[in-house]
Amino acid sequence: MEKRSIKALVLKAFNTYPAIGELELPALNEGMAEIEVKAVALNRRDFYITQGLYPGVEFPVVLGSDVSGIYNDKEVILNPNINWGANEAVQSDAYHILGMPSWGGMAQYVQVAKDRIYPKPAHLTLEEASALPLAGLTAFRAIKTKGNCKAGEKVLINGIGGGVATFAFQFALAMGAEVYVTSGSDEKLNKALQMGAKGTANYKAENWHKQLAKDSGGFDLIIDSAGGKGFANLAKLCRPAARVVFYGGTRGKIEGLSPQILFWRQVTVMGTTMGSDKDFEDMLAFVNSHKIKPVIDSVLDWKESNQAFEILKASSQMGKVVLRVGE
Ligand SMILES: NC(=O)c1ccc[n+]([C@@H]2O[C@H](COP(=O)([O-])OP(=O)(O)OC[C@H]3O[C@@H](n4cnc5c(N)ncnc54)[C@H](OP(=O)(O)O)[C@@H]3O)[C@@H](O)[C@H]2O)c1
Repeated sequence: MEKRSIKALVLKAFNTYPAIGELELPALNEGMAEIEVKAVALNRRDFYITQGLYPGVEFPVVLGSDVSGIYNDKEVILNPNINWGANEAVQSDAYHILGMPSWGGMAQYVQVAKDRIYPKPAHLTLEEASALPLAGLTAFRAIKTKGNCKAGEKVLINGIGGGVATFAFQFALAMGAEVYVTSGSDEKLNKALQMGAKGTANYKAENWHKQLAKDSGGFDLIIDSAGGKGFANLAKLCRPAARVVFYGGTRGKIEGLSPQILFWRQVTVMGTTMGSDKDFEDMLAFVNSHKIKPVIDSVLDWKESNQAFEILKASSQMGKVVLRVGE
């Protein structure tokens, strides 16, 4: 395919949001395919990139790691991993994520290697399916590959409003765990109770962890993406031999963590990021067999993308924010 002009949400500078403009798509290289994008979901990463919080950004850039669309007349989703490599334990040095530096899905068309294309789960609409790849992959590796979540275990998901956290919650429930959640919003806690949470705590309340420890009896597995001062309280909620898996640092450096709690309770703390291609395939199989539907906060037209970025900025969402890509 020759190079040609398409419409895309183009980011041209930091501290601005992308705006619809024309871009020239390069000629298609050997082994690559062009997907007609139908929907793209936002991740915190997209917002952080607009704020200059990621290294190596070259303008203009097209963001968007979470894509659903049409390829060869079939509905598909994309694996956002590029060059994970052969080691299941850790990504290679050449690893990166679709949507910076390589142009992502906030465009009418996106070019990816053919082996990044997977059939859309049949029980999901194109909009629902776009919400799945990045957050679903990160959550699945955190909960299953690293966390080894088992039926009957007590699991805590910290900050349920996050896109990854909501998937981790759904996966843990489907695995038969007793799942508790925290949030800074009582409204989100009520939604989680309706979805099957066993108990909740608002992390903005004083001594919230003490009440949660009483209510739950402590946790076998804790999933976190906040870090910061609150992380020390998560350690206090660990049962003997608990695992703590974290994939983000929204609240910055971990402070006040007591080594004594960790070693005396034989706690294992694990970092994780994204997931291997095997994790992606295992996650898709799990989502298909349990008919899991992503929690969607809002679906907007891509002409309203500023509003979508503002939702992320305010962290008011419960689940994923999706853009419908069109003319
Ligand atoms: N390593 C990876 O592969 C990977 C992948 C995806 C994301 N991440 C990182 O993980 C983090 C979350 O990303 P996301 O896209 O899932 O989230 P998101 O949709 O942007 O939501 C962030 C959530 O963080 C929660 N939060 C904020 N302050 C908190 C606190 N003090 N204690 C507990 N929770 C708190 C909030 O939950 P409530 O609204 O319920 O309070 C909020 O909804 C980001 O830092 C992101 O960069 C990493």
